[in-house]
Amino acid sequence: MEDIDLNNLPKHIAVIMDGNGRWAKSKGAMRIFGHHHGIAAVRETVEACAEMGVGFLTLYTFSTENWGRPKAEVDGIMSLLVKTIGDEVPTLHKNNVRLKCIGDLNMLPNKAKNEMLEGIEKTKNNTGLVLSLALSYSGKWDIVQAIKQIAAKVKSDELKIEDINEQMFNGFLSTFPDPDVDFLIRTGGDHRISNYLLWQSAYAELLFLDDVFWPDFRKKHLIEAVKTYQQRERRFGKTGEQIKTIK
Ligand code: FPP
Repeated sequence: MEDIDLNNLPKHIAVIMDGNGRWAKSKGAMRIFGHHHGIAAVRETVEACAEMGVGFLTLYTFSTENWGRPKAEVDGIMSLLVKTIGDEVPTLHKNNVRLKCIGDLNMLPNKAKNEMLEGIEKTKNNTGLVLSLALSYSGKWDIVQAIKQIAAKVKSDELKIEDINEQMFNGFLSTFPDPDVDFLIRTGGDHRISNYLLWQSAYAELLFLDDVFWPDFRKKHLIEAVKTYQQRERRFGKTGEQIKTIK
């Protein structure tokens, strides 16, 4: 941890926690076994972010597309969610972590939705790490729900078409007022974004970990990942020379 430059931390880390199913299969177990073991990785990631002083951590917990998985797996993940939130919220609260949710919460079974809402309510005044769980979330869903809100405001004359711009659009995304993603990490070996935070990751640095399935992800992996991030030059469309002058 001491090799990390605390002045150059990603403000917002997003994670695609992939590989639970394959991890379980490699052990001859059911896929849900992998999801259960993913909780230890979630805990370590949250702890490491809080210790480093990362402001925002957003975990891809259940995508819109995941509803298409076998019912037994979906039910298993939902039960795990209820249990985990129930078990972990007191510790999150003690550590000043604020729990949030992005996605279509209304799609969740009532038990999961209520457990989430309770956790969000209990931790809403915390001022430390903001931990967002993406649940029934997809990047395209997020953009469409923002467009619907804006269209309704245009229709009711609350907003003029000329006033639509990137900054105001951002204000209607489910992540608002969190900053854009600086660093997107995906475990499990696939090199894609899978409809995650599409708008918010426009200039994110991407890191694909080929050799780590999510249940094996530990603090040391996050620390190594942040070191890799700190070696990248973020140019935001400018030249390297310009970036050095600005610094
Ligand atoms: C992707 O692995 C993982 C998921 C779809 C579920 C992630 C859920 C958890 C880690 C548990 C719940 C978390 C919280 C925060 C309460 P995969 O199933 O796609 O794995 P595969 O690519 O090997 O099939």
